[in-house]
Amino acid sequence: DADVVPQAPEDPLFGLMAAYRNDTFDKKVDLGIGAYRDNNAKPWVLPVVKKAEEVLRNDPDFNHEYLPIAGLANFTSASQKLVLGADSPAIKEKRVTTVQTISGTGAVHLGALFLSKFYPGRSVYFSDPTWVNHHQIFTNVHIKIATYPYFSAKTKGLDFEGMLDTIGKAAEGSIVLLHSCAHNPTGVDPTQEQWKEISKVMKEKKLFPFFDSAYQGFASGDLNKDAWAIRYFIEQGFELCIAQSYSKNLGLYGERAGCFHFVTGASSDAESTISRIASQLAILQRSEISNPPAYGARVASAVLNDEALFAQWEEDLRTMSGRIIEMRDVLRSKLDEMGTPGTWNHITDQIGMFSYTGLTEKQVLKIREAAHVYMTKNGRISMAGLNTNNIDYFAKAVDKVVRE
Ligand code: LMR
Repeated sequence: DADVVPQAPEDPLFGLMAAYRNDTFDKKVDLGIGAYRDNNAKPWVLPVVKKAEEVLRNDPDFNHEYLPIAGLANFTSASQKLVLGADSPAIKEKRVTTVQTISGTGAVHLGALFLSKFYPGRSVYFSDPTWVNHHQIFTNVHIKIATYPYFSAKTKGLDFEGMLDTIGKAAEGSIVLLHSCAHNPTGVDPTQEQWKEISKVMKEKKLFPFFDSAYQGFASGDLNKDAWAIRYFIEQGFELCIAQSYSKNLGLYGERAGCFHFVTGASSDAESTISRIASQLAILQRSEISNPPAYGARVASAVLNDEALFAQWEEDLRTMSGRIIEMRDVLRSKLDEMGTPGTWNHITDQIGMFSYTGLTEKQVLKIREAAHVYMTKNGRISMAGLNTNNIDYFAKAVDKVVRE
C-alpha cells in the first residue's frame, strides 16, 4: 500500500525558486533557475514573440485543434533547418526524422525512452557535472549511467584530457550525452579543435552522440556558431540524436516548445531506416502525450518561417547574449578591482546562461544566509539574474564570503 512510497527530495532548482519567492528582503538576488531576466530582473517577452503572437491573433484560421502526433509540420521542418543548417545534406537525403516534444526535457526523455527500447543494454555517459535532470530522466527509463570528467576545479575550465580518456574507454555503442553549446551548469564549452578530437575518439570507439541543444543562439548570439558542433558531427557521418529546446532562445519557457531529431548516417537504405524510426517514435509519443502542445510551436513556427521575424529574432538573441556577456565583464572587473582572493578569468571565459563560480557549498549557503543571494549549491549562478542594479551588491557579497 501507500506506506511503501518514500518521501522524495525537493527539486533543487524549483525548490530554490520557491525559497527566493518567500524571502521578503528587499535586496534579495535570484541567481538560481536558468531563465533570462532583463536589467530590471523581470522576465522578458521577446519583442519578436509579441509580434508572432499578434500574427496568430489575427489569423482567422487559428483554432485549438489537436496537432498531429509528431507535431506541427511547419515547426518541425523549420526546426530541422535551424539546428542542422538550411542546406544540410542530411535533410536533403531524408536522413532526419523529427518529433515535436514537451521542450528539451521531453525531447531528452523521448530519446532516452527510444534508446532504452531499441538500443538495449547500452550505458549513457554524462559530463561530470551535467544538468541535474539528465540523471533522473535516464534512470527512469533504466539506462545505466556513467560519467566522464568535464570540469577542472583547478582551471575552472575543461578537463579535456580526462574527458577524452574516459570516453575512449567506453564500451562500443555507448551513448555520450553532449551539450552542443553553453554547457549547463558550468558554462564551459570545448573549442572547435577539441570538438574535432572528441568526434575522432567517438568515431573510433563507435559511440552514439546524444546532443542536448538548449541554448542555440543564446550563447554567442549567432545561431550558426552555436550549432557548429552538431553540424560537424553530422558531417563526420555519425548516427545521432538531438534534443532541441526553444525555452531560452525564444523565451518560451512555460509553452514547452521543442523537438527531438534522429539523424542517420548516409547509406542506401537511410530513408527506410528513418521511416521505421519515425513510426516507432510516433507510438511512443502517442502513448505518453498523444500529441504535443500547439501554442508555443505556432509562435516559434511564425518566427522561423518568416524572414522579417527571423531577423528580428536574431536581434533579440543578440540583446540577451550581449547583456549576459556584459554582466560577465562587469562582475569580473569588480572582483579584480577589489582584489578578491582567487582568479576570476573563468567568469568571462565561460559562456551562456551560467557561470560556475567555484564557490563551495558552504560559501553558497553563507551568501544565502547573509546576503539573500540565491544560487545552486554547486556554485552555479544564472548570469541573467545579474543587472546594473544588483551586480555591485553581489560582487561585494562574493568578496566578503571568499575572505571569511
Ligand atoms: C536550469 O538548469 O536552471 C534550467 O535548465 C531550468 C530547468 O528546467 O532546470
